[in-house]
Amino acid sequence: MCQTDKRYQEDEMITVMGATGHTGKRIVEELLKAGERVRALGRSAERLEALEKAGAEVRVGEPHDAAYLAEAFRGADAVYTLLPYDPSVANYMAQQATVGEAIVRAVRASGVRRVVAISSVGADLASGNGPIASMHEQELRLRALSGVDLLILRAGAFFENLLPAFWMIEQHGLVADGVGAEVPVPMIASKDIADAAIAALFSRDWHGTQVRELLGQRDLSYGEATRILGEHLGRPDLPYVQLPYDEMAGMLVDAGFSANLAGLYAELAEGINDRRVKSLEGRNPGNTTATSFEAFVAEVVGN
Ligand SMILES: NC(=O)c1ccc[n+]([C@@H]2O[C@H](COP(=O)([O-])OP(=O)(O)OC[C@H]3O[C@@H](n4cnc5c(N)ncnc54)[C@H](OP(=O)(O)O)[C@@H]3O)[C@@H](O)[C@H]2O)c1
Repeated sequence: MCQTDKRYQEDEMITVMGATGHTGKRIVEELLKAGERVRALGRSAERLEALEKAGAEVRVGEPHDAAYLAEAFRGADAVYTLLPYDPSVANYMAQQATVGEAIVRAVRASGVRRVVAISSVGADLASGNGPIASMHEQELRLRALSGVDLLILRAGAFFENLLPAFWMIEQHGLVADGVGAEVPVPMIASKDIADAAIAALFSRDWHGTQVRELLGQRDLSYGEATRILGEHLGRPDLPYVQLPYDEMAGMLVDAGFSANLAGLYAELAEGINDRRVKSLEGRNPGNTTATSFEAFVAEVVGN
C-alpha cells in the first residue's frame, strides 16, 4: 500500500463514490485495513457485500441522486468523488453533467469540507478533448464551491483502457486505435491513482483548491504498449494499427459505445496526436507513480 500517516480521529469517516470500481474499491479496502471508518457507495448491495463484510458502511443508490449522495456525504470528513458513465449513453456530456451537478449539490447540502475528485490530464481544456470536457466542467463546478478544500487528481490514461485489446488481439490479431503509434501518452495503473488519493486522504495536505497530475511510471506510446502486450502473450510481432478517426469511432460503436461517445473518443485521439491534450506540469518525481505497464500486464496475463 501507499505510505499512510493515520491522523483521523476515531469518530471521523471518509465517503468513497464508485466503491466497486477501479480506484474506489482499492481506496475503501486500504482505508479499512488502516482502521478508518469508511462509507462505500454503489448501485448494488450485492456488489458492495464484500466491502461491507470488510467493515465498510454501505449506501446503495444512483450517483445522479443528489439526496442520496447528500445523506452519504453527511458527517464525512472527506469524500472521494468521480463521474461514472455507461459507454452506451446517448448524450455523454448531459449524463456527466447530471451526475456532476448532483455531487456538487450533495457537497453543499451535506456540509462536507474536503473533496478529492478524480479528473484527467487534458481537463484544463474546455473543448477539443473529447470525453475529458466533462471533467473540465466538473472541475469548474467544484471550484465554485466555497469553504471546501478541493484536491483535483488529473490522471493520465488508465492502463485498464487497454484491457479490451486482449479481445481485439484474439479476434483480429492486432491492436488498433486512433492515436499515432509513437505518440507519448502518460498512462497509469488505476491502483496508483487510488494510492495517491489514499495518501492525500491520510495526510490532508491540501488547502483551498489544488490540482495534482498523476502521470504513471513513464510515458508510453500505443506502439510500445502493443509490443509489451505482444511479448507477454507470446506474440512478439503483434502489430499496432493507427486508424483514421472515423474508423476508430466505428470500431467503438461496434464494441457497444454510443455514436456520441465514440465520436468524443475520436476527438480525444486527435487532441492527443496534436499534443493539445497533455500534461501541464511536465513529468517530475511527484507526479510519476510506481507501477510499470510491464508489471500491470504481467499481473493480468499471469506471467
Ligand atoms: N479511463 C481513463 O483513462 C481515465 C483517465 C482519467 C480520468 N478518468 C476518470 O476516472 C473516473 C473513473 O474511475 P474508476 O475507473 O475508478 O471508476 P469505474 O471503475 O469506471 O466506475 C466506478 C463505479 O461506477 C459505477 N458505475 C458504472 N457504470 C455506471 C453507470 N452507468 N451509472 C452509474 N454508475 C456506474 C460502478 O459501480 P456500481 O455498478 O457498483 O454502482 C463502478 O464500479 C471517471 O470519472 C473517468 O472519467 C478516467
